[in-house]
Parts: sequence; C-alpha cells; structure tokens
Amino acid sequence: MALHPSKVAFFTGLLAISLTFSHGGFAQKKNPIEASQESVSKGQTIFKKNCQMCHGEKGMGDGPAGQRLKPKPANLADKSGMEKVTDGELFEAITKGKNPMPAFEHKLNENDRWHVINFIRTFAGPTK
Ligand code: HEC
Repeated sequence: MALHPSKVAFFTGLLAISLTFSHGGFAQKKNPIEASQESVSKGQTIFKKNCQMCHGEKGMGDGPAGQRLKPKPANLADKSGMEKVTDGELFEAITKGKNPMPAFEHKLNENDRWHVINFIRTFAGPTK
C-alpha cells in the first residue's frame, strides 16, 4: 500500500506541530540513560564537583554554600518529595536552573545531566 502524497503532507504537518510544541518541554523527557553502576558513579563525580557545595554530601540540602540561600537547596534525599518529580522535571530544573540555583545548560552536557539525575535518585532510594 503506497502512501498518498496528501497523507505524507498530513503526517509531516503533524510532526512539525508536535516538534514546535515539544520544544523546550523538558519536563516530558524520558531519561535515556539506564541507571547502571557506571552511570551512577559518573553522576557522583559530577555531583561532587557541581552540586555538593549547595546540596550536601548526602543530598540533604545542607552544603556549606547553600546555607544562606533563600529558598534553601532542595533536599534530594526526601523520598516523598522525590517521588513526585519525574526525571524530566529534574532535567528541566538542572538545565534551566531554579533561582537561586544556576542553570547547567552550558556547564554540563545532556548525558552528564542524566548521569547526575541517576546519582541523585540514589539519595532517596527506590521510589517505585
Ligand atoms: C548555588 C547552589 C546550588 C548549586 C551549585 C546547585 N543547586 Fe540545586 N538547588 C539549589 C536551590 C537553592 C534549590 C531550590 C530552588 C527552589 O526551591 O526554588 C535547588 C533545587 C534543586 C532541585 C529541585 C528542583 C525542583 O524541581 O524542585 C534539584 C533536582 C537540584 N537542585 C539539583 C541540583 C544538581 C543536580 C546540581 C548540580 C548539577 C545542583 N542542583 C546545583 C541550589 C543549588
């Protein structure tokens, strides 16, 4: 069955529309990187360097550089809070920042942002 050109046009149109509306919609993104030991350990290195000073060694929001910030750094070890956010939402917060947290869009590449998400998920333990 060959595709009629008008159908092709229709689907191309749909694709263009969905691309337009998904642009910047990081919250819907799925984590493309499996939380393997390798990924988690990469994430830990990234966290120590970029996040720990605010979020603390155990992710509890008690890092030395975070104490004077308002609001305080999020407690990433809080199970009930972490259960409510998707990886996509975490990705958006890390990518775009969340005042006073800086954006990491230009500091960490996408894969590194997913690795650090796989790592911070270990603070609260399995949520599902
Ligand atoms: C300068 C201090 C600082 C650094 C560095 C920092 N954060 Fe944050 N982070 C914060 C603060 C403050 C908040 C709370 C923002 C709010 O509640 O509006 C926050 C919030 C968050 C949240 C919760 C977002 C949400 O949707 O509620 C996540 C996840 C997070 N940070 C992850 C990270 C990761 C991962 C890194 C390193 C790549 C990092 N942060 C680096 C200060 C920091």
